[in-house]
Amino acid sequence: MPAPRILILGSNGGLGRALVRKLAPKHEVTAWTRADLDFEQPETIADKLARCEFDVLLNPAGMTSPDVCEIQPETAHLANVIGPQVLAECCHRRGARLIHFSTDHVFSGESPAVLLEDDATSPINVYGRAKRAGELAILKTCPNALVARVSWLFGPDKPSHPDHFIARARQTDDLAAVADKRSIPTSTADISDWIERIIHHHPKASGVLHMCNSGTASWHSWSEVTLEIAERLGVPVKTTKVSPIKLADLTQFKARRPLMTVMGNQRLQNLLGIEVRHWSDALEDYLVDKYQPR
Ligand SMILES: NC(=O)c1ccc[n+]([C@@H]2O[C@H](COP(=O)([O-])OP(=O)(O)OC[C@H]3O[C@@H](n4cnc5c(N)ncnc54)[C@H](OP(=O)(O)O)[C@@H]3O)[C@@H](O)[C@H]2O)c1
Repeated sequence: MPAPRILILGSNGGLGRALVRKLAPKHEVTAWTRADLDFEQPETIADKLARCEFDVLLNPAGMTSPDVCEIQPETAHLANVIGPQVLAECCHRRGARLIHFSTDHVFSGESPAVLLEDDATSPINVYGRAKRAGELAILKTCPNALVARVSWLFGPDKPSHPDHFIARARQTDDLAAVADKRSIPTSTADISDWIERIIHHHPKASGVLHMCNSGTASWHSWSEVTLEIAERLGVPVKTTKVSPIKLADLTQFKARRPLMTVMGNQRLQNLLGIEVRHWSDALEDYLVDKYQPR
């Protein structure tokens, strides 16, 4: 069977770039940015897709900032619900496979239990509500689609929590991070590996899949582990100690954040037949590549 042709949207984004880097060397990949396909112009999407040959469509594109979504709910609806729904209609019509990315913000974060794919969703902000509506619209329109929920992404293509924290720790030893919000940091490189395996070996995988590394963290523990690794690698951080604060202490956010959104990845492990590595091992690899490239 020939290798599937893959169209990747949002290819300027953090996950989009990682997917392109992983898949382009061995596949026929078309990488589109917002300039090529804009969810804010949903009436143009079907025509644009009709002009592209693809068997698999990966969609990491969308409005991804909870705070921007909160103040621009109509645009969030176009980017996270209507656009993805049109993708699903097109994929369903032409028999292409759609793999769409979603978020832990579909959950309310009120329970400390590990969240499984079939657990009830109850988003508490505009971003989460739009992403959940997008999931439902996709799965209703295109039941063969796969919706991969990810959390707390990090990787070389877009600065995220570890990068910001290391930058701060090079300037000051007066650091604080939220200790009562938990989820799972997840490597965009690992997601790209899992996606390649799913494309090749699991053509029928559909529905919702939690796609995270193993373990759990708070922003506080994620920060301290990051700084410990950075110090070991010789990065001149002024401290590895971070004061714990509460989410409620932060007043700058426009959108409410769910507190406890640790998503269980057993379904992913069963599907791939692998033991998914701990987030701190993936983080170490990322920081070694960044600070001590081989
Ligand atoms: N980052 C995280 O920690 C995190 C956590 C949970 C879930 N997720 C989910 O994971 C996926 C990937 O996240 P990410 O961090 O890689 O996102 P990202 O870096 O923000 O990339 C999103 C991409 O979507 C594009 N985009 C935005 N609005 C668009 C529109 N109207 N039409 C077409 N493209 C549009 C952006 O283009 P421009 O560059 O031109 O703006 C950007 O390239 C998203 O579904 C997100 O909801 C991410």
